[in-house]
Amino acid sequence: MEKVTLGPMPFMSVMPTLLVGADVDGKPNYMTAAWATVACMAPPMVCVAINKIRHTAKGIDQNNTFSLNISTSKQVIESDYCGIVSGAKEDKAGVFTSFYGKLKTAPLAKECPVNMECKLFQSVDCGSHLLYIGEVVEIHADKDVVTDGKPDITKINPIVYAQSAYFDVGEQIGKAFSDGKQFKK
Ligand SMILES: Cc1cc2nc3c(=O)[nH]c(=O)nc-3n(C[C@H](O)[C@H](O)[C@H](O)COP(=O)(O)O)c2cc1C
Repeated sequence: MEKVTLGPMPFMSVMPTLLVGADVDGKPNYMTAAWATVACMAPPMVCVAINKIRHTAKGIDQNNTFSLNISTSKQVIESDYCGIVSGAKEDKAGVFTSFYGKLKTAPLAKECPVNMECKLFQSVDCGSHLLYIGEVVEIHADKDVVTDGKPDITKINPIVYAQSAYFDVGEQIGKAFSDGKQFKK
């Protein structure tokens, strides 16, 4: 197939849809984020790229803590709302019921089946966005989405984000760290 050049852009095929929780001026705020991933295994770390102008960035900078909350496909409306309205303009504290875990300043959204408490490890200034890297100090999960002690995406049914649209997770098509063995000589 002939290749075409598309110019530089921060493209990823699919991304998660998460809610970043942070206390801003002592009040819980939730912001939708898709630019997030795992950063490290030991210690366990995740990272999320947040535009410097976000209300959420202010809260993370105030407390050095944040949360990542995984919403389900039934929460598309709440998730999208938190991504189109800023806590600087509208109070988003009531969109979810907040609770706190080990970190007393990282609000966790009760209605989301999985909540990660994160202690800020480092923030990297990349330009428009700060990459917040957080150490996961605890994961809270609804009992009914856990299989063998781990969050189970077939039970969570998280929202996949791509191309300004939301998708369900599709069918399993293979087994990781295993299928490739067939190619080995
Ligand atoms: C699907 C989706 C994904 C988004 N991902 C990000 C992201 O990764 N980083 C970011 O800074 N903003 C992202 N946004 C935009 C913020 O969520 C949005 O500006 C929000 O209103 C900020 O809220 P806040 O000002 O209360 O922090 C996303 C929005 C949507 C709808």
